[in-house]
Amino acid sequence: MIHAFRAEILSVSRDPTGDPEAVRHEPDGLLVVEDGVVVARGAYAELIARFPQVSMESLSGLMVPGFVDAHVHYPQTDRIASHGEQLLDWLERHIFPAETAFADKGHADGVAAFFLDELLRNGTTSALVYPTVHEQSVDALFEAACARDMRIVSGKVLMDLGPEGLRDDLASGRAASEALIRRWRGRGRLGYAITPRFALASTDAQLADAGALLAAHPEALLHTHLAENRRECAEVAARFPQAADYLDVYDRFGLVTGRSVFAHGIHLSDRACRRLNESGAGIAVCPSSNFFLGSGCFDFEQAQRHGLRLGLGTDVGAGTTFSLLHTQGIAYQAGQMKGTALDPFRALWLATAGSAALLHIADRVGNLEPGQEADFLVLDPQATPLLSRRTRGADLAQRLFALQVLGDDRAVARTYLLGRLVHRAARNGNRT
Ligand code: GUN
Ligand code: ZN
Repeated sequence: MIHAFRAEILSVSRDPTGDPEAVRHEPDGLLVVEDGVVVARGAYAELIARFPQVSMESLSGLMVPGFVDAHVHYPQTDRIASHGEQLLDWLERHIFPAETAFADKGHADGVAAFFLDELLRNGTTSALVYPTVHEQSVDALFEAACARDMRIVSGKVLMDLGPEGLRDDLASGRAASEALIRRWRGRGRLGYAITPRFALASTDAQLADAGALLAAHPEALLHTHLAENRRECAEVAARFPQAADYLDVYDRFGLVTGRSVFAHGIHLSDRACRRLNESGAGIAVCPSSNFFLGSGCFDFEQAQRHGLRLGLGTDVGAGTTFSLLHTQGIAYQAGQMKGTALDPFRALWLATAGSAALLHIADRVGNLEPGQEADFLVLDPQATPLLSRRTRGADLAQRLFALQVLGDDRAVARTYLLGRLVHRAARNGNRT
């Protein structure tokens, strides 16, 4: 089945800082898709002669690769916007009680379905997702992802120091992780991530076991939290006085590798940055969460100096939006707090190919080059009266930046998975 889409197309395949060639833009482009995979892309006028009989639709708006959320918690969907605390108290008061309910598979199924539909509504087609400690919370997510044909990476949360009702142990944590890896290997568009919650939620024995699991499963990622909130960092330093810093705690258990994705990285020493760079581990930057929990602002300049691999995450439910478009705008604000004015093309790269590289799926998604899976969305620069006004007569960089700062789910006109339409915005009242 060959089908073509005519649209303005934009993608950013690498960090465009000092490398403008990383930005690919066709003002009037053609994307040709066969069996869900991009087989050709280029200027409409040049490419159409090669596909004279192709069935084609024209899309108005800006086509970009599907967003890739590099860090998000599906069981926290119903606790987004919970008032009043910073990380450790927020977890105790709002999050742990909500996650306990995922012992019930039916509850997990319902939340997973809503969560994935919400991702698609926001233009997010791939994600690295925290479930809960419960094995069946992963089954619920993976079943729902398979039903939608979404590219999702996840893995049972390990937390043998968790509260009552949300605690595994060394043996059950390992057995459930291995059972899930066996059960889901090669199915749909899924991947597995070994997921110790964070240093404070696991015994030394479980952290070491997570390292052993990672070594035993070379296709799996390691996904956890790192240096997010000041009190958390102080508690980690008190529990692990022999470690050089927070990252070193993970390093001592074999958890710092090229397949490791660490959420946040707000409070990083230069030593830790050097070690991240040397290992190839990456950071999922989650600015809306960092503002919401008062954790701090990610230091893009430090990351750039050390050549860190970066992606962008919403971190819902500490994050305040499912929209990676809006999160790009919040990343700009976080950057400003530390003297970096994040370039809009770099922000788009973070939310697409940057995150895809962190998740080791950049050969499949993230830049809409031939050979990639045709996951994409169409942004509508006229989605709201203000966007429409602000983008009138604007050049590409200005339009993209306005979409990031002023846009959110309202600006996502359509989302496609493997070239198949999976979300279409209801027409706005102001459009004809
Ligand atoms: N650190 C450990 N668990 C969590 C969590 O659920 N959310 C965030 N933001 N940080 C964490
Ligand atoms: Zn998180």
